[in-house]
Amino acid sequence: MTSIAVCPGSFDPVTLGHIDIISRGAAVFDKVIVAVLHNRNKQPLFSVEERLALLREATKHIENVEVDAFSGLLIDYMKTKKARTIIRGLRAVSDFEYEMQAASINKKLGPEIETFFMMTNNNYSYLSSSIVKEVAKYDADVSDIVPEVVAAALKKKFSG
Ligand code: PNS
Repeated sequence: MTSIAVCPGSFDPVTLGHIDIISRGAAVFDKVIVAVLHNRNKQPLFSVEERLALLREATKHIENVEVDAFSGLLIDYMKTKKARTIIRGLRAVSDFEYEMQAASINKKLGPEIETFFMMTNNNYSYLSSSIVKEVAKYDADVSDIVPEVVAAALKKKFSG
């Protein structure tokens, strides 16, 4: 049986914190699907297509990682992909409350599906896509907190 895990998120944009979780997940599961939520209620900086392209470039060195988009309930997407595990990164205690709610509702909606949490590498525990966007907007150097391709895309976005 192939073990398939899904690493869901907004990835607007992907950071090195995400890449850390994705690559560690890929070392444990046969396949990791990085699934970008297509959320019509949010006003993202990068379109879904841009986020997919950035993720594909940033994960191309990891053989068993696939990048995809989904809309609707994560649990329904998991079922269509025959995936049994959700991977989420935990940075700090502040993440816990939301993650516990999400894992609990997902358990109710799909009892056969498990959520696995990984502690984010200490180097990235302060990192979020929002923080990256906030500082990149003011032309700060983000090259050591996001993949190279994302740093270039942010520069382009904010330069005009
Ligand atoms: O990167 P994010 O924004 O923290 O990711 C949140 C995400 C995409 C994992 C979550 O919002 C999600 O799974 N949304 C899909 C709708 C759903 O299934 N909701 C119930 C569980 S929260």
